[in-house]
Amino acid sequence: MTVTALIVAAGSGSRHGGDLPKQYQVLGGKPLLRHTVEAFLRHPGVDRVRVVIGQGHEALYAQTIGDLLPESHIMGGATRQESVRRGLEALKARPPKLVLIHDAARPLIDSGIIDRVVCALGTKPAAVAAVPVVDSLRHEAGKPVDRNGLWQVQTPQGFWFDAILAAHIAATDNLATDDATLAEQAGIPITLVEGAMSNLKITRAGDLATAEVFLAARLGDIRTGSGFDVHKFAPGDHVTVCGIKVAHSHALEGHSDADVGLHALTDAILGCIGAGDIGSHFPPTDPRWRGADSAIFLQHAIAGVTERGGIVAHLDVTIICERPKVGPHRAAMVARVAQITGLRPDQISVKATTTEGLGFTGRREGIAAQGTATVRLPFV
Ligand code: CTP
Ligand code: MG
Repeated sequence: MTVTALIVAAGSGSRHGGDLPKQYQVLGGKPLLRHTVEAFLRHPGVDRVRVVIGQGHEALYAQTIGDLLPESHIMGGATRQESVRRGLEALKARPPKLVLIHDAARPLIDSGIIDRVVCALGTKPAAVAAVPVVDSLRHEAGKPVDRNGLWQVQTPQGFWFDAILAAHIAATDNLATDDATLAEQAGIPITLVEGAMSNLKITRAGDLATAEVFLAARLGDIRTGSGFDVHKFAPGDHVTVCGIKVAHSHALEGHSDADVGLHALTDAILGCIGAGDIGSHFPPTDPRWRGADSAIFLQHAIAGVTERGGIVAHLDVTIICERPKVGPHRAAMVARVAQITGLRPDQISVKATTTEGLGFTGRREGIAAQGTATVRLPFV
């Protein structure tokens, strides 16, 4: 059964405010939209993820999603309903059996909710995540409201694709704040499945702080990994360290580009997730990695963390050599590691030391590097 996640991210976030539309604001070091897209991408039951974005948000979107998604974005409209309709119409070319419509502004969607929605769609045409109202309710005009039987409706809202597309096309106005409302108007029965308080919609200023608390609790399995690497000098005129070419009297010998700094960081991250070492992922006997840019290895290790629903919180590497001097290149190295990993520069540290002329690094026979990574994973 083909399942497409359609993520609507075309709003302006007027109730939230801030310099950027809320879906591009940062939660736990990453834009909301990136959290949302990654949550659906890593769910094994979801085949495709498409994102509907706002006019003028193209550059923000490109910066946020990069090449994470194989398919391009879809342009949204002036209301949420219109954005969803445009998204559904864009899917018609290759229609899925099921579509999960989800707000980009709900970045903490978890796999259990997605499971429940998809499972219910096995037999029902519409399944919607919701939580029961637990607080007493009052209307501001003074009328009490009976909370019995009332639910707060969230997303994802999942549907048989053909049915929800028809409901959107048949809609007579443009003001529905969710898709279940339109489905119901079209006579499609709605099944509620259990959502979660943590699946909150970032709506007002202050909601991000609440989401940070949920995220911190979710990413409570904090791991530290270490990595160590050595490459020896060979004839040449430059070395590559932490992604930066540095002129030197020698080159570093190695199967790949011999970037000792990135190799140490890659192993440190793999250590955090118990995923072996760089050699087990990229065997030096494999001709594909001859002369390879070690950025590939580091990105592969980061992807291992992301696939587990975790984040890399911090990277620290010490380069050990007498020459070349690392200090003048330190800022460029931090910037390059940030670019490769998607982390902020303040989450990355590049340090250097000599060994006071002692040992193989002291004899200028090569360069060693020692890396440490801190990774936060969800408790499973
Ligand atoms: N959305 C959309 N297109 C619109 C309006 C909203 O795709 N024209 C999306 C938002 O980006 C968000 C989701 O629908 O992910 C839920 O909408 P809401 O929380 O209302 O977000 P905004 O409309 O951006 O916020 P506000 O109403 O405060 O301006
Ligand atoms: Mg809105």
